[in-house]
Amino acid sequence: MEENFDIVLDNAIKRCEGLVIYDKAFNKGFNQIYPFATENISGYIDKFDLKDKSLLTVGSSGDQVINAILYGCKKISVLDINPYTKFYYYLKIASILDLNLDEFMTFLRFKRYPSTFKDNKDVFNSQLYNKIKTTLRNLDYESYLFWDELFQSFNPIDIRNNLFSLDEDHNRIITKSNSYLQNQDSYELVRNKLKTISPTFIIEDLFKVELQEKYDNIWLSNIGTYLSRHFVKIMTDKLAKSLNNNGQLLISYLYKTTKDTKYHDDWSPIYDLEKVFSLLKEYNPNLISFIGVDGLKFEDSDSKDAILVYRKQ
Ligand SMILES: C[S@@+](CC[C@H](N)C(=O)[O-])C[C@H]1O[C@@H](n2cnc3c(N)ncnc32)[C@H](O)[C@@H]1O
Repeated sequence: MEENFDIVLDNAIKRCEGLVIYDKAFNKGFNQIYPFATENISGYIDKFDLKDKSLLTVGSSGDQVINAILYGCKKISVLDINPYTKFYYYLKIASILDLNLDEFMTFLRFKRYPSTFKDNKDVFNSQLYNKIKTTLRNLDYESYLFWDELFQSFNPIDIRNNLFSLDEDHNRIITKSNSYLQNQDSYELVRNKLKTISPTFIIEDLFKVELQEKYDNIWLSNIGTYLSRHFVKIMTDKLAKSLNNNGQLLISYLYKTTKDTKYHDDWSPIYDLEKVFSLLKEYNPNLISFIGVDGLKFEDSDSKDAILVYRKQ
């Protein structure tokens, strides 16, 4: 058991009571769990060679990991500053293993569910929790202790409001952007694949961590959109060192972007593509566009998001 488990659980309890906790994740603005990824993962996942390969990814929603497993990824490390990343991953996995797709959505969706203007009153409902409890306990005892104590002590809506980001997309976006949720077959396929993979969790700030291994793929989600330009460079320099030859680094997910998108001064610096390409010229990154989150929402294939990717030669 991790040494600081007591502190992490204690802080989660305090957060559920409505207190503000000043930990590392809070200082970086990422103390809340993302219930589902906010990116169109299925828009970019086939740009990566995942089958039988390794991946280092951020993502407290666990969705990057679950989709990668669906695509045959065999070795996964999750690097995230959010202290609850592992616990939520195992809660999601136990749900996939023991619940059907409808029950999974009922148990884990909250905002805009079951319809756009509703919040789900059955989120974390106790009957569904009882169905997954034994599996959760067998998968990861700490995760079981964590959720079991919270579910016994707090109303599910308070847990959701205090520990989770309320940035949760419409159902159409969530199901289309996550290949494992697209249909019954994918859900069952990932259920079988999940049984054979145990990710490693590194709960750290990516700017501070010393990575011991190299990976075939590294995904940094849209952390880059929260950074000043020189930190984008520092992040790229640092993670590029942990890539295997011919491996690919997803430097940043970029919303509403194609190579022709004109920069506006009030946008995050990473969207100034001309400057970013110049800053990262030694990496000669590729900008790949695909149908974006808004494109899924409005069924408009012209509305694109992009990923900035470096391939190590
Ligand atoms: C930038 S956030 C936004 C959510 C994202 N679009 C998604 O779909 O998952 C992605 C993840 O990066 C993590 N994160 C942000 N800054 C980090 C850092 N410096 N080190 C490690 N993880 C970080 C957050 O905790 C979060 O889980």
